[in-house]
Amino acid sequence: MESTNGLVTDAEIKSFFDSAPPLRDRVGNGSARRVVCVTSGGTTVPLEQRCVRYIDNFSSGHRGATSTEGSCQPYCRSLPEDPLLECFEFTNGSNVQGCSSRSPVKTSFYNHFEYLQILQMIAISMRNLGPHAMFYLAAAVSDFYVPWKDMAEHKIQSASGPLDMRLVQAPKMLSVLRKEWAPMAFCISFKLETDSKILLEKADMALKKYKMHMVVANELVTRNEEVIVVTADKKIPVCRDKTQPGSDVENPLIELLVEKHSAHIKDADT
Ligand code: PMT
Repeated sequence: MESTNGLVTDAEIKSFFDSAPPLRDRVGNGSARRVVCVTSGGTTVPLEQRCVRYIDNFSSGHRGATSTEGSCQPYCRSLPEDPLLECFEFTNGSNVQGCSSRSPVKTSFYNHFEYLQILQMIAISMRNLGPHAMFYLAAAVSDFYVPWKDMAEHKIQSASGPLDMRLVQAPKMLSVLRKEWAPMAFCISFKLETDSKILLEKADMALKKYKMHMVVANELVTRNEEVIVVTADKKIPVCRDKTQPGSDVENPLIELLVEKHSAHIKDADT
């Protein structure tokens, strides 16, 4: 019913939404779709605005690719780099959606600025999913970068002699993700170290400091064999099933995380 001046009243809008049938995937109806934002691969730090050179990060993107094999684009890491394959589109819905900072198929990747801005956009757009959203932050994000305003616009000339450049510390975005972007989401960050003596201590620190629900601790040389999932009250070792040829540590890891995410959703609903 329209009000006499042609505009709808607040009461009419409220009445419309109160009486509308609920959306099929709406959060809160028990069967709401879960969405996982997976970040993986390394970010680059450009040295020039019109970038010719950049500092790269070792990460191959394997972790994210393997972790999203149940998604709408599975097994990409096993496929050859072929433009023909990019013509195919997926048709089925999926419970898991991947967002990789470096795709194992395409060799494109994000720089530091792009990665953090895209993460922010995705996180804010997933906020309404509440506890059904999960962030699986396996990307190796640069800890140091050159601020845009301090960066040379054009290619740095080698004739100018040795390069003296100051990199500033990048702010960690985990706190702001937890506090502001998607406060109800289930958040998992990763911690990589080369020194096993400090790994668990650093993972514990990250768990507390950034209020993560879990931190997946891994060592550089054994990262494809075993990881340790650090939670507030437990440290759970997760290993690749060595009796199964070609099995990945991500299989038991994802199983565990799905279970913990279900518990998180249940807790939030009660
Ligand atoms: O790609 P692969 O070769 O398979 O290797 C996988 C991996 C070793 C890269 C992965 O398992 C892993 O451990 N990733 C995290 C590496 C790491 O320790 O990064 P960090 O200490 O810089 O960051 C810790 C966490 O903070 C990460 O979840 C990162 O996404 C986040 N971060 C980092 C920097 C920043 N400015 N903002 C962030 O939010």
